[in-house]
Amino acid sequence: MKKLSILLIALLGLTAISAQASVANAEKLIMIYTTQAKGANPEYTGPTVADGKFFFNRKIKLGNGKEMACASCHTANPADNGKHAVTHKVIQPLSPAVNAKRFADFEKVEAKFTQHCTEVIGSDCTAAEKASYITYVLTEKTASPKK
Ligand code: HEC
Repeated sequence: MKKLSILLIALLGLTAISAQASVANAEKLIMIYTTQAKGANPEYTGPTVADGKFFFNRKIKLGNGKEMACASCHTANPADNGKHAVTHKVIQPLSPAVNAKRFADFEKVEAKFTQHCTEVIGSDCTAAEKASYITYVLTEKTASPKK
């Protein structure tokens, strides 16, 4: 799987440096994860915005009884600043449309997925979940109006 990703990155010309290209990179990441998901399940029909949105907002009960979703820190709108549920630190928006630093570096994205998915779900997300997650995040391009 790892080898396949590296090959795909080479083929698709994914750049780790260019921040402006983050939307394009995000789209390439979707292709990488979709290919991985198809490898794991030939019946896989591809990522959807609806799956990604559901996954992003899905609350999961943690061991300590508290409920946590990706949205708990990243807020319900990925184009908004997030707020860390534990440290209350500001998190820059996830949406590559408003934050050019997002989804620019495949290794970082992989590391964050593994870290946050393990924190929230208890295991890494599947390639299919990652593909839908990015597909959804890409559709959120506008920050919420200031209250
Ligand atoms: C406890 C708080 C918290 C939760 C819950 C959380 N995240 Fe994060 N996430 C963060 C922080 C903080 C960052 C920003 C790190 C940075 O700016 O480099 C981040 C960044 C990311 C990134 C990096 C994107 C990029 O390219 O920079 C991904 C991917 C990500 N989160 C996925 C998820 C997913 C998937 C979930 C739900 C399963 C989730 N996160 C839940 C705190 C959280």
